Amino acid sequence: MVFDLDLIKKLYSEMPAKVDAARKALGRPLTLAEKILFSHLWTGVEPVDFERGKAYVDFAPDRVAMQDATAQMALLQFDTTGRKKVAVPSTVHCDHLIVAKTEGKQDLVKAVTDNEEVYNFLSSISNKYGIGFWKPGAGIIHQVVLENYAFPGGMMIGTDSHTVNAGGLGMIAIGVGGADACDVMAGLSWELLMPKLIGVKLTGKLNGWTAPKDVILKVAGILTVKGGTNAIVEYFGEGATSMSCTGKGTICNMGAEIGATTSTFGYDESMSRYLKATGRAEVADAADQIKDYLTGDADVYANPEKYFDKVIEINLSELEPHLNGPFTPDLATPISQMKEAAAKNGWPTKIEVGLIGSCTNSSYEDISRAVSLAGQVSDKGLTLKSEFTITPGSELVRYTIERDGYLGVFEKIGATVFANACGPCIGMWDRVGAEKAERNTIVHSFNRNFAKRADGNPNTLAFVASPELVTALAIAGDLTFNPLTDTLTNDKGEQVKLDPPSGDELPTKGFAVEDAGYQAPAEDGSKVVLDVKPDSKRLQLLYPFSAWEGVDIKGLKLLIKAKGKCTTDHISMAGPWLKFRGHLDNISNNLLIGATNFFNEKTDTVKNQLTGEYGTVPNTQRAYKAAGVGSIVVGDENYGEGSSREHAAMEPRHLGVRVVLVKSFARIHETNLKKQGMLALTFANKEDYDKILEDDTLDVIGLTSFTPGVPLELVLNHADGSSETITVNHSYNAQQIEWFKAGGALNVIRSEFAK
Ligand code: F3S
Repeated sequence: MVFDLDLIKKLYSEMPAKVDAARKALGRPLTLAEKILFSHLWTGVEPVDFERGKAYVDFAPDRVAMQDATAQMALLQFDTTGRKKVAVPSTVHCDHLIVAKTEGKQDLVKAVTDNEEVYNFLSSISNKYGIGFWKPGAGIIHQVVLENYAFPGGMMIGTDSHTVNAGGLGMIAIGVGGADACDVMAGLSWELLMPKLIGVKLTGKLNGWTAPKDVILKVAGILTVKGGTNAIVEYFGEGATSMSCTGKGTICNMGAEIGATTSTFGYDESMSRYLKATGRAEVADAADQIKDYLTGDADVYANPEKYFDKVIEINLSELEPHLNGPFTPDLATPISQMKEAAAKNGWPTKIEVGLIGSCTNSSYEDISRAVSLAGQVSDKGLTLKSEFTITPGSELVRYTIERDGYLGVFEKIGATVFANACGPCIGMWDRVGAEKAERNTIVHSFNRNFAKRADGNPNTLAFVASPELVTALAIAGDLTFNPLTDTLTNDKGEQVKLDPPSGDELPTKGFAVEDAGYQAPAEDGSKVVLDVKPDSKRLQLLYPFSAWEGVDIKGLKLLIKAKGKCTTDHISMAGPWLKFRGHLDNISNNLLIGATNFFNEKTDTVKNQLTGEYGTVPNTQRAYKAAGVGSIVVGDENYGEGSSREHAAMEPRHLGVRVVLVKSFARIHETNLKKQGMLALTFANKEDYDKILEDDTLDVIGLTSFTPGVPLELVLNHADGSSETITVNHSYNAQQIEWFKAGGALNVIRSEFAK
């Protein structure tokens, strides 16, 4: 048993009283999302009607999950906290670093060799700190979590945006940055903006060619990629309960594509069936005991407009299969309108490749429905017109579909089965010919379809659809083929129609697996030595940042005055830099290389005030560091928007930047800077941005009496000998000031555990 039954039982024993208290405090019935949130309030936080979209609230998540690319920095940070073990059950999943090229087994062998040191490190640090480790080949984080750890009414965070997939099993599951994961593993609370609530009422029943995927493709078309921002989407109604648990997972998974905080469904029979089929009958039994607490109150679902900020209604009986794309997942086109849309937009209609699987759509049900179409290829005298690939989401699914003969059916029509990993979904697809950058069309059952996402080719048009529709389109090789109405020509020249897909929600013979790929941690990990070589290019142990020196910080050189948009991608680029996510010094060589220098309108070209020469941002900052000179970064509005990537705050800290002063911050980045012991300041008068000159040396005044709500002063010493003083604001609370003084939040945690 890899899941923690005692923890779940404890939560269930306390949940009714907590939900009742919240209902009483708010004086109204509750949505499921509220029940889960209120039963996970951090100790001492009283249930009140927190203002949605405004109030920040502290929570106590039940679990943490991390994928291999993001786990590295999260765990390197955790290693500096001084904790002996993680405070909540946590897991690491090796899924993002496996390149899909030839076929699953060969690709896996190569990945294990290429990423050996990263895997060894993740394995050893998991072992040391009591973290469950899922080896490369075990599967994709969200599928493995759904099969093993997700449970109704639970709350988890994960270092991947599609953590939200676990909403399919009635959880509140949210994607976060590594620093948040580190905090929760260290036993601290986790802060979340109280989300708004969007209700989606599903009436009718899916039938024929329509699949759960079409529900979220339709919702994405309605809400767009921003429509779910800072909101939890809660699905309910007869259409919800008639759907499989894994289908619900697909819908929640792609909640990330509408920007939602997360999505969820109330506990029902489908979840009970799935829990039992995946070896968790005890969890289903325990959930049955409190099932009214694991779904929204009846009055909420009867009068949703009263309780949700927004309500959408979809009739599943009338829902058409959709194809969303290209380049954005919210460009929704019902299949019956694709012929017209493709002609109007000039989209290439020949489909080069159809890809099914990924964490979004690789359930047993998905595969069995897709295989019912693949089987018709030989039965009806057809041939597969496009390349076709399958990426199973887990070894449990892969082994079971192999046992049941499904993989054999796919292979018979010429399909390639890739490793149980992200592969093409995250651009880890060594697609032959992609470098030629030709304009071409692919269809897949993944979630994201931004330019370059799958194969790196900006001219690949990727359309997202259900696995069933992807399979049918790959058989036809034509984007405009509508399997509901159109026919195909077979080897006898006859016109044949594909029968609608059919399949099993769960394997009739049960799931089976020889080696699921799980490695349990040592009971006592204190003797485990971390496997990080001092000359490694990809991994580097972290050392505590130094504490504040106790006096005002003077003599700071201006590193860059960034102009316009400066997202976390501008501050710490992704792409080829991904491989250095576990090596702070190496990844720091991308510091701010995407930001535009106000003074010359160029990127990655700034003046070194010590020499007067222009150089790259990282090299200039390294020169300041070598000379023992601190520096300041100045930015524009909404500085640090984008991802919650902590590297964007750790890199400047590591290279010796002391202050980031901007017109306004994206909140998560501001918090990340505070956590790393930086000074995150804003102009009291935004026009003062114009007063900062290229050769300025700056002094921060007032730090010895650094107090919440009291502004600081900044002296601008200009090169001509003149100086002026401006007021700068901050949003540090008392605890965050302690972080600053200690040199970072982790230093505070470490000193607390040392007591
Ligand atoms: Fe992996 Fe793609 Fe899911 S990158 S975690 S399969 S969204």
